[in-house]
Amino acid sequence: MTEGEIRQTVADYARAARNAMEAGFDGVQILANYLYLLAQFLNRTTNCRTDGYGGGIENRARILFEVIEAVLDVVEPSKVGVKISPMHEGGPFAANEDTLPMAEYAIRELNGYGLSHLLLMGNTTDFTGTPIEHLMGDAMFRHFRPIFRGTLIANVEMDAERGNSLVEQGFADMVAFGRPYIANPDLVERLATGAPLAVIDWSTVYASGPQGYSDYPAIRMAKI
Ligand SMILES: Cc1cc2nc3c(=O)[nH]c(=O)nc-3n(C[C@H](O)[C@H](O)[C@H](O)COP(=O)(O)O)c2cc1C
Repeated sequence: MTEGEIRQTVADYARAARNAMEAGFDGVQILANYLYLLAQFLNRTTNCRTDGYGGGIENRARILFEVIEAVLDVVEPSKVGVKISPMHEGGPFAANEDTLPMAEYAIRELNGYGLSHLLLMGNTTDFTGTPIEHLMGDAMFRHFRPIFRGTLIANVEMDAERGNSLVEQGFADMVAFGRPYIANPDLVERLATGAPLAVIDWSTVYASGPQGYSDYPAIRMAKI
């Protein structure tokens, strides 16, 4: 990307955020996780730039903060969150000894923006044998809780017991559920009442029609 393309991309994030708010969403979340563009900038292996957006940790994080600041020009901070985590994926996204310092720097810097939340993902892959092995399981949240002063939302493979435990121990303010929501539109009610959770039919995930998206019944309907 040229620096002009970076400027355009930063402006596109702001435009997308404004569009989302105009469309009626409650807020926006900037994704700096997985293999997305911002994560490619953060990652030492995929970021080969020699200008102000590459090299050291601060430079690699520059675009993330330009995006956040551009979005905050059009959406109030209490409606803007960031999703980020040290991850271990295949190929160039394999965790290295820079992965944790990079994530710590980025997450610490988020403190200055008064954001709605940090959505912190736990491990989605096995970290064993990597420099972030010690962050597996709840250790991810224990590690980052003292670093981020705002609302910390813990994610990945939560259930009622684990979520309650993380909140009670003060390692997270909230927990987020992804996959369980697909098959359980009434997830909150089921968790509150201890009702069994419906199981996802993976053959309909990533499909294009309503099947598997909006046709899972709530438990009251399921009983009828
Ligand atoms: C069908 C599906 C699509 C997803 N799409 C995205 C995505 O576009 N961006 C993203 O950051 N996470 C995405 N995720 C990940 C979820 O947001 C969540 O972080 C992940 O599933 C872990 O939470 P869980 O263990 O409660 O499912 C997706 C997950 C699923 C199952």
